[in-house]
Amino acid sequence: MDPNASGLAKMLAEAGQSHLLQFWKELSPEEQAELRLDLQGMDFQEINGFFKKAMETSCSKQEKMDSRMEPVPREVLGSVTRDRESLKDWEVAGLHCISQSNVAVLLLAGGQGTRLGVSYPKGMYDVGLPSHKTLFQIQGERILKLQQLAEQKHKIKCRIPWYIMTSGRTMEFTKDYFSRHNYFGLDKNNIIFFQQGMLPAMDYQGKIILESKGKLSMAPDGNGGLYRALGNQDIMADMERRGIENVHVYCVDNILVKVADPSFIGFCVKKGADCGAKVVEKTNPTEAVGVVCKVDGRYQVVEYSEITLATAEKRSADGRLMFNAGNVANHFFSFSFLRDVVQKYEPKLQHHVAQKKIPYVNAEGQLIKPDKPNGIKMEKFVFDIFQFAKTFVVYEVLREDEFSPLKNADSQDAKDTPTTARHALMSLHHRWVLNAGAHFIDENGRHVPAIPRDGAAGSVTDDGNRNLKDGTDLPIKCEISPLVSYGGEGLEELVKGREFHPTLMIDGSGVHELVKNGV
Ligand code: UTP
Repeated sequence: MDPNASGLAKMLAEAGQSHLLQFWKELSPEEQAELRLDLQGMDFQEINGFFKKAMETSCSKQEKMDSRMEPVPREVLGSVTRDRESLKDWEVAGLHCISQSNVAVLLLAGGQGTRLGVSYPKGMYDVGLPSHKTLFQIQGERILKLQQLAEQKHKIKCRIPWYIMTSGRTMEFTKDYFSRHNYFGLDKNNIIFFQQGMLPAMDYQGKIILESKGKLSMAPDGNGGLYRALGNQDIMADMERRGIENVHVYCVDNILVKVADPSFIGFCVKKGADCGAKVVEKTNPTEAVGVVCKVDGRYQVVEYSEITLATAEKRSADGRLMFNAGNVANHFFSFSFLRDVVQKYEPKLQHHVAQKKIPYVNAEGQLIKPDKPNGIKMEKFVFDIFQFAKTFVVYEVLREDEFSPLKNADSQDAKDTPTTARHALMSLHHRWVLNAGAHFIDENGRHVPAIPRDGAAGSVTDDGNRNLKDGTDLPIKCEISPLVSYGGEGLEELVKGREFHPTLMIDGSGVHELVKNGV
């Protein structure tokens, strides 16, 4: 139907978006039908409102935050290095919650992976481990193992529901991938997919950008789109039915993520927290990582660009950076807090503005790929809700044990690549094997030193990167299936007192030296 007759043209004119129909007559009937459907599904008044507010906030944010910031006080902080004596208690408490089936994990997997440059969901990426497992598989197997550990300890059957947020672009791929891989041995009824919203990209005047003559440029609404999606797809009701009390939220791209980490959950539960953030220590003032801190008395993440260098460089009496709680988008929420956020607070969250180079069709109908930012994408962030927490806690873990995100494709100077992720995992597993009382020998029969040489792969440089050199300092090739060990436990009986040639693989079928055996 003609857009004038259907009222579409009027609606767009009222919203100042009439240009979206400028190529209407050139479209095929199918393209017209698709465009009409897309446009009819959109609330333009709401989108215009988002744009206006996001731009206002973004302009007022130019001021630095320094004078309003306070670091995380020690009493709300738990640390795997500074509170060693409490770790066991926290782990026991967390494992108990898991055994009661009141813990769920929630995966944020709706991103586009633009920097990595693959057309499929990032969770399906194979970083080149000896097993060639993907991120999804590693995470799924960790969940399975943790269920087994809780069951063994408490002699009770339990399950950890896995809520997976995808976007319009990743949903079908993701579901299909899980089904083809038999849900990695998990019960498919405990894997719940849901979809986050999308928003149009806009130019600086608030006009929606066309990516082709009949198609709007759309992008997911940020990982904080989570809260709206939880509400409009009845996920909170699903959680309630299953008796969920504690939720662990994490990002798909961290190869080291301890999914449903019992120690983190136990710590948060014992502290009576409604909201918790796992952090890694920021050690270099100029590392571009957001830090968790208080601003005007409320918790939030402050980006590196929002503070002056002088504040970033401030140190506490113990020599650490004063603002050192590096945010890794890994969070704990009590069910009741999450429900309050979804029901009450979500509409109060503002979109952040990301300036991007957005391909567009110009008035002549040609596709232009700009070489500098020409518009914005609007996103909410998962951590935007810290401000609403009544009891907020912070849990500090070691970066080399728990955080190695996959962001960029491999290249000479890139950080957070498939190579750094692969090395981080193998380096962790190497350490697990050493801790279990085994060691490695090289091709000349020499003991490989237990502590990697200075600057060896897997060590962390000043700017927070993993140090990767020219291949001479590669980590020991060693991979342990999550089905064998969740966090380094249970390895002694397999390896204690033994020596291994890399590549070492430990999986459900045993301990294998791949190279020695010519595999
Ligand atoms: P990033 O911000 O790193 O985005 O996401 P990305 O999509 O993975 O990569 P780029 O920026 O396009 O290169 C951090 C985490 O948040 C999730 C991602 O899937 C990842 O787990 N995310 C991001 C969402 O779930 N939805 C979004 O809209 C954006």
